[in-house]
Amino acid sequence: MRVVSGVKPSGKMHVGNYLGAVKRFIEFQNSAEESFIFVADYHVLNTYPDPAHLRESTMDILLDYLALGLDPEKTTLFLQSSVPEVTELTFLLSNYTPMGLLERAHAYKDALSKEKNINHGMFTYPVLMAADILAYHADFVPVGRDQKQHIEITRDIAMRFNNRFGDILTVPEPYIEESVAVIPGTDGRKMSKSYGNTIEIFNTPKMMKKQVMNIVTDSTPMEEPLDAESCNVFALYRFFATPEECREMKKKYASSTFGYGHAKLALFEKMNKYFTPFREKREELKRDEEKVREILRRGGEKARREAQKTVSEIRRAVGIVEI
Ligand code: ADP
Ligand code: TRP
Repeated sequence: MRVVSGVKPSGKMHVGNYLGAVKRFIEFQNSAEESFIFVADYHVLNTYPDPAHLRESTMDILLDYLALGLDPEKTTLFLQSSVPEVTELTFLLSNYTPMGLLERAHAYKDALSKEKNINHGMFTYPVLMAADILAYHADFVPVGRDQKQHIEITRDIAMRFNNRFGDILTVPEPYIEESVAVIPGTDGRKMSKSYGNTIEIFNTPKMMKKQVMNIVTDSTPMEEPLDAESCNVFALYRFFATPEECREMKKKYASSTFGYGHAKLALFEKMNKYFTPFREKREELKRDEEKVREILRRGGEKARREAQKTVSEIRRAVGIVEI
C-alpha cells in the first residue's frame, strides 16, 4: 500500500493542520508500506506569493514536519518542485481532462465568485494535484475534507485515461478521518489560516496562551453549569486529554463553580505541555539546515525515479516515439 499527500507552504502550522493532516501522516508512516509526503510549493504560485516569503514558508513547514515526528527513514519527504516530471505529467493529463470537470471545482468557483485576479495556474490546480498523486501510484491520499473534491477529480482523470489506454494509472482513494476532518478554530468555525482563528503550534507559549484565551464562548455565568458538548474549548481539549481526563473535565463544567476562563487555562496547559518537546526538537533542527536539505535531496531523488517511470509509461501509451 502506498500513501501520498502534500501540503502547501502557506503559513504557520496550526493545531488543525496537525490533528487533521500531519498526525495522520505520522501514523501512516508506521503502518503504510510506503509513504510519500511533499511540500506543494508549485501549488502556491497561483496566489502570487512574495519570493522571500515562499522560500521561508517552505523551509518552515519542513522543519515543522520533521520536528513533529515525520521520519525521513520511513517517509519519502521532498519538495514537489524537485520532480519536474510532475509538470510534464500535468501537461499530459490535461489532454484527458474535460474543461467542465475543472469548471465545477469548488476552489475555482470560489475564486471566481470573489472576483479575484484568477490565473491559469488556479484553473488547472486540480490537474497538477492529480499529477502529484498519480505520478507515485498512490493507493490512499490522506487529506482534510476540504480536499475531497480534488481527489474525486484525480480519480476521474485516472479512470478516463485507463479507459482509453489500459490499466496504467492507480485510481487512488481519499482517506478522510471523520473525527478530525474539521478541527474547530477559536471562533468555532473550521480552524484555518484564512479565517484568522488558528492556534499556532510553534509560536511562543505566551502567544499560544493568548490564542487559547481568545476562544469564543457563550455568556453563561460561572455560577451556572456549563455545557461541555457545545463548548469550543472542550471541542479542542478532548484531542489532547485522555478519556478519563475528559470525563473529569465534563464534571467540572457541570459543577457551577467552573468558568470558561478555567477551561481555557486547562486547555492551554495541556496543549503547551504536548507541544513543548516538539518546539525543542525544532530549534535543534533549525541549527542544521544543511541536514534538512540533504533529507530533501534524497527524498527528491527517490520520488523522481518513481515519477520518471510513470511518465515513460504514459508517453509510450499515448503514442510518443521513444528515441
Ligand atoms: P488552512 O485552511 O489553514 O490554509 P491548509 O489548506 O494549509 O490549511 O491545510 C493543510 C492540511 O491540513 C490539509 O490536508 C487540510 O485538509 C488540513 N487541515 C487544515 N485545517 C484543518 C482543520 N481545521 N481540520 C482538519 N484538517 C485541517
Ligand atoms: N491541494 C492541497 C491543499 O490545498 C495540497 C496538495 C497538493 C495535495 N498536491 C496534493 C494534497 C496531493 C494531497 C495530494 O491542501
